[in-house]
Amino acid sequence: MSQTIPQHNDYNLKVVKQFAVMTIIWGIVGMAVGVLIAAQLVWPALNFDIPYLTYSRLRPLHTNAVIFAFGTSALFATAYYVVQKTCQVRLFSDKLAAFTFWGWQTVIVLAVITLPLGMTTSKEYAELEWPISILIAIVWIAFIIVFFGTLAIRRTSHIYVANWFYGAFIIAVAMLHIGNNLAVPVSFTKSYSIYSGAVDAMMQWWYGHNAVGFLLTAGFLGMMYYFVPKQAERPVYSYRLSVVHFWALISIYIWAGPHHLHYTALPDWAQSVGMVMSVVLFVPSWGGMINGIMTLSGAWHKLRTDPVLRFLIVSLSFYGMSTFEGPMMAIKSVNALSHYTDWTIGHVHSGALGWVAMISIGAIYHLIPVLFERERMYSIKLINTHFWLHTIGVVLYIVAMWISGVTQGLMWRAVNADGTLTYSFVESLEASYPFYFVRFVGGLFVVAGMLLMAYNTYKTIRSDKVRPSEPLPAAQSV
Ligand code: HEM
Ligand code: HEM
Repeated sequence: MSQTIPQHNDYNLKVVKQFAVMTIIWGIVGMAVGVLIAAQLVWPALNFDIPYLTYSRLRPLHTNAVIFAFGTSALFATAYYVVQKTCQVRLFSDKLAAFTFWGWQTVIVLAVITLPLGMTTSKEYAELEWPISILIAIVWIAFIIVFFGTLAIRRTSHIYVANWFYGAFIIAVAMLHIGNNLAVPVSFTKSYSIYSGAVDAMMQWWYGHNAVGFLLTAGFLGMMYYFVPKQAERPVYSYRLSVVHFWALISIYIWAGPHHLHYTALPDWAQSVGMVMSVVLFVPSWGGMINGIMTLSGAWHKLRTDPVLRFLIVSLSFYGMSTFEGPMMAIKSVNALSHYTDWTIGHVHSGALGWVAMISIGAIYHLIPVLFERERMYSIKLINTHFWLHTIGVVLYIVAMWISGVTQGLMWRAVNADGTLTYSFVESLEASYPFYFVRFVGGLFVVAGMLLMAYNTYKTIRSDKVRPSEPLPAAQSV
């Protein structure tokens, strides 16, 4: 087998470019729908009495667009890039890789059509009806073949840790998707889950929580383990910690789902297992965060001048924050206050907008000049402006939701001396209004940042400042 390091053009970068560009486009679409539904919660008339634009239909469109179109496109782009660079080999099959791109875009377009039409399984994050669900399974199996096929033909002796995280994410999502979506179709657009009652709820949150654990966490940790060292030009702080982190995370996450079902018909012991596992999960989560942040040892000064690194490192701070908050919210007595309130929404977005979006944005900013062989991004200043718009937007969003959520929880449980409720539900809704407005403003900041990113990317691709022809840093592999 040849020992020469493959050059830029020896890799399949076409599919990486396609997914990277779609990440930005779907990011703008998904987050803009987020801003629209945030606005509807302040001004309900914004549904214009059109059924396709009602909150109930646009909310799942938002979650599907941000998780499966924006987040998952970023995962496809970076997984395909990282596996090639760290295994020093071209993707196992160009045709199958192209199939995953076009297949996945078809899934997203079908979601954009069917969700506003009201076609839904009504299972959160698994709303798409059975024909689309089958297409997802087929595309995902092709993804498994391309990713693991590439690992199998690698030229390096070991498998870099980022690939372990990507691999776990890809396998777990296949298992979760197929397990939770087993259903009996009654027509082309309607099916019923094969599970019922408490079992259905448990399957749903086994899926839902592990979508968080494996898609929104493990996959993005794969991204972190490649792009943080690359951008910082430092080796991972502790390779040993990364291996312990991997095994601890994947073996604990899978048990934590019942924390979504506290005080429900799920047996009490199962709720307690979920609670304990969630609290334990704090340890590997912070192990990973510390490993990422400490990778900057000796290079902290770079944060002052490199906004891409800032995106990556601040994303890790949000990861740390949401993985401290999550275990706390999983404790039954805390959940009694937080459940059904905006506190959950604040937690979700500190993970989603803080961790997932920021690490993806950082990785894509790193990738665009490399993929299109440009010297650097068109404007570093614009990246910096994007960083501040995003950070301020996320902080406005999550702080508003924390205050609103705790207020709601306290108002709902307040009782008078005679045992009657102190506040009506509508009073608690009124108390939330100012915070819904602040969230809407935060969302506008975030979307404005994404539009800058699109402009900066367009200008970078169009620019003629080609990268110098010395070996690309990324080709030397970590
Ligand atoms: C401009 C940025 C964003 C805005 C304004 C926004 C806004 C919203 C709003 C208004 C809701 C509904 C809250 C409710 O029902 O009370 C929501 C839900 C949700 N959003 Fe976002 N969002 C944004 C970005 C994102 C991103 C980037 C992700 C994921 C990567 C995300 C994931 C979710 C999830 C998972 C839910 C459902 C939460 C739950 O059911 O508990 N959002 N978002
Ligand atoms: C140690 C890690 C974590 C633990 C133990 C945890 C725990 C929790 C708990 C207890 C809830 C509230 C359940 C409820 O009352 O309904 C929740 C909701 C949620 N969390 Fe986390 N969380 C963690 C990390 C994260 C991260 C990093 C993200 C995003 C990237 C995230 C995304 C979500 C979402 C989307 C929901 C809302 C689900 C829904 O009701 O639709 N979590 N989490």
